[in-house]
Amino acid sequence: MWDIIHKFFNKVKDKGDLEKVILEIKKGQIPDHVAIIMDGNGRWAKKRGLPRTAGHQAGVKTLKEVINLSKQIGVGYITAYAFSTENWKRPKQEVDFLMSLFERVFLDELDNFNKEGVKINIIGYKDRLPKAVREKVKDVMEITKDNKEIVVNIALDYGSRAEIIEMVKEVSDDIINNKLSVNDIDEELISNKLYTTEQPDPDLLIRPGGEKRISNFLLWQIAYAEIYFSDTYWPDFDTEIFLEAIIDYQKRERRFGGLKKSR
Ligand code: FPP
Repeated sequence: MWDIIHKFFNKVKDKGDLEKVILEIKKGQIPDHVAIIMDGNGRWAKKRGLPRTAGHQAGVKTLKEVINLSKQIGVGYITAYAFSTENWKRPKQEVDFLMSLFERVFLDELDNFNKEGVKINIIGYKDRLPKAVREKVKDVMEITKDNKEIVVNIALDYGSRAEIIEMVKEVSDDIINNKLSVNDIDEELISNKLYTTEQPDPDLLIRPGGEKRISNFLLWQIAYAEIYFSDTYWPDFDTEIFLEAIIDYQKRERRFGGLKKSR
């Protein structure tokens, strides 16, 4: 079997090989939740003499491929970082482009999401987005809410510290209004007050684009996630690299603070 995997990764790829690689990967542990920091779009575009916006546009294609592949191998949840609470500081033209890109994708891909059984869940401060984006966010979440194949959280105007602040406010409010007592506070309660409520924590966090940082993404939720960094810019992050990340994850030994079994 490793022959096929090697052949595939040595770029003698055909569809049959990909299917065999997927079958082999499915014999191992599959991360239930994969979080992705889609980084490197701007540099990808610059390298080609294109405007940064062309990189974001190309990044959509990669995201669609990764969702598709994730579904095939049995990943249950993806969380993709599309726009951070800090990204408002970018030039207006880039912010405007991204907002209209989100709007367009939520509209144009709706049928596809339904056909593929993709449930879209937008996480982040929704009230600061332009009205047209807010409307599409509401529609895409409502229309895809019963889809069961895979949940895709899209982090839009998302920041983990902001999420934690919202959670603290909600918990404090519940205590003041006698809906909760201080002793009720535990990990499960906190987890369920975050945007990813009722979802498993990410098992694997992938960051393409060469930077090795977390950038205020899912700080609570990634406490025990395995992290995979790649130098490839997000628009070039193809099937092969995604599967490499999964294979790498399968080789890790997750101990969650305990000891190796043999000790
Ligand atoms: C970071 O790369 C990327 C972003 C801020 C935008 C990511 C958005 C997409 C890929 C579009 C996804 C669309 C939907 C609907 C979910 P960067 O621009 O910071 O790259 P750089 O570090 O090379 O400048």
